Amino acid sequence: MKLDVLFTPAGLTLAEVQGRTVFVIDILRATTSMCAAMNSGARAILPVASTEEALRLAQTIGSDDVLLAGEKRCLRIEGFHLGNSPLEMTEAAVRGRTLVLTTTNGTKALLACQGAAAVHPACAGNLSLAAERARDVVEQDGAVLVVCAGRDGAFSLDDAYTAGRLVAAVLAGAGRRRGLNDAALASLDLVRRYGERWERPLRRSRAGRELVRLGFADDVAASARLDAYPVLPTFHERRVTLAAVPV
Ligand code: MLT
Repeated sequence: MKLDVLFTPAGLTLAEVQGRTVFVIDILRATTSMCAAMNSGARAILPVASTEEALRLAQTIGSDDVLLAGEKRCLRIEGFHLGNSPLEMTEAAVRGRTLVLTTTNGTKALLACQGAAAVHPACAGNLSLAAERARDVVEQDGAVLVVCAGRDGAFSLDDAYTAGRLVAAVLAGAGRRRGLNDAALASLDLVRRYGERWERPLRRSRAGRELVRLGFADDVAASARLDAYPVLPTFHERRVTLAAVPV
């Protein structure tokens, strides 16, 4: 078994993701918002790297069904329909719609994993489904990669703890540690340090403190809710959908 965690996607190469199943974590808040939107019936999410690209893509698609979503410095981008809050992703707002989404770290982390066999956005909201899928993949292929979005190219406590929860759930008490890289071992240490209450490491992290300061404490609480968004989206050919993993 090979269960690797990367604390940031920096320097990730195509060779490292090719043929592998990858779980991407940006719990505060991009992958949580993606799972919330898909759980509320969004048709698809198109992650892009910048505001300009989002505007261009929305114009190219040219449909009333498209919503612009995302953030810059955690705040909704001027003229966009939605920000990057899981609480905004209600059925009334997103059902049947395609979201063009740009965020500071999360969408870039997904895009960095293009070329993988399958890429799944993961968070507390879909932990059980993500772990179930990761266990199946480990059994079939022997290898899974977990990529944390991190923060501005650096380690982030919120994502690293979440990676640890995913690794712990994949191991599910098996007690085996062989096959884990050092980052996976360190992420398990964070789970031991903070215990089961997801909100503690989220609130302690720099991203969490920034969100609370900006008035998004409810988003931090919502992002900490285990299995609140029970979907396993797949990012494939530049789209996040609920379609089965492509073969
Ligand atoms: C990101 O992509 O860096 C985050 O999702 C930022 C945020 O919470 O808005």
